[in-house]
Amino acid sequence: MLPLSAFGSQLSAWAFSSWFGSDPYHGAMEFSDVVRKRRSIRSYRAEVPPSDVVDRIIDTARRAPSAGFSQGLDFLVLDDPGAVATFWRLTDDPDHDVRETTGEAPVVVLVFSDPKRYLARYSESDKLEFELDDLDRWPVRFWDVDGGMAAMQLQLAAVDAGLDTWFFGIGYGEDAVRSEFSVPDDRMMVGLIALGYRADDEAPTGSGTTRQRRPLGDQLHRNTWKL
Ligand SMILES: Cc1cc2nc3c(=O)[nH]c(=O)nc-3n(C[C@H](O)[C@H](O)[C@H](O)COP(=O)(O)O)c2cc1C
Repeated sequence: MLPLSAFGSQLSAWAFSSWFGSDPYHGAMEFSDVVRKRRSIRSYRAEVPPSDVVDRIIDTARRAPSAGFSQGLDFLVLDDPGAVATFWRLTDDPDHDVRETTGEAPVVVLVFSDPKRYLARYSESDKLEFELDDLDRWPVRFWDVDGGMAAMQLQLAAVDAGLDTWFFGIGYGEDAVRSEFSVPDDRMMVGLIALGYRADDEAPTGSGTTRQRRPLGDQLHRNTWKL
C-alpha cells in the first residue's frame, strides 16, 4: 500500500484516482454554493452535456434515502436529440400558446416510482409490523417521498457538476410519452428534470420571480408550534 500521507495533497488526489478510479462523489463546489446556485432554469443552450457526467449525476441521485432501502425508482434519461425533440413535441399542449420554457433543455430526466417494490419490501418479515403490505394503507406514499428526495439530490449533483436544472411536471402528453418511450404501465411519473447549460441570455422566470420567500421565522417552529 502506498503511504499516501507522505504525498502532497494534489499528488494524493492523483494517486487516489489512479489507484481507485475517479471518485464520482468528489464535488467541485462548496455545498452552500451548490444550494445557492440552484434555481429553476427554463432557458438552455443546445449543447448536450457529456453522457458520463449525466450518468454520474443519476448515480448520485439514486443514492438518496429510500424507505426500507426499497430503491423503487427508475430514471429515464432522454439525451438523444431526436428523442428529446419528440419529448418536447409530445408535451406541447396545443391549447396553451406559451410554454414555460424559452429554450428547451437538451436532456430531460423522467423520474418514475414503482409502488410494487415498496409493497414487496414492506411485506417482508422485518416490516410487517407496520401493516403497510397493502398500498391503500400507506398514510404517506413513500415512493413519492423517495422520488422527491432523489430528484433533489439529482438537481444538486447537477449543479455541482456545472449543469443547470429545472424540475417540472407535464400536464399534457403523459400517455404519449409513456407509449413513445416504452414506460411500463405500473410506474408512476414523479416528475421531470431538465438538464443542460443555461442560455447566455437566461433570466429568471416562474413563480420564484413573482413571490417572496417566506421568512425563516414563519416556517421554523422550535419546541412548540408557533402561531
Ligand atoms: C413538485 C414541483 C413541481 C414543479 N412544477 C413546475 C412546473 O410544472 N413548471 C414550472 O415552470 N416549474 C415547476 N416547478 C418549479 C418551481 O416553480 C420552482 O422550484 C419555484 O418557483 C422556486 O424557484 P427556484 O426553483 O428557482 O428556487 C416545480 C417545482 C416542484 C418542486
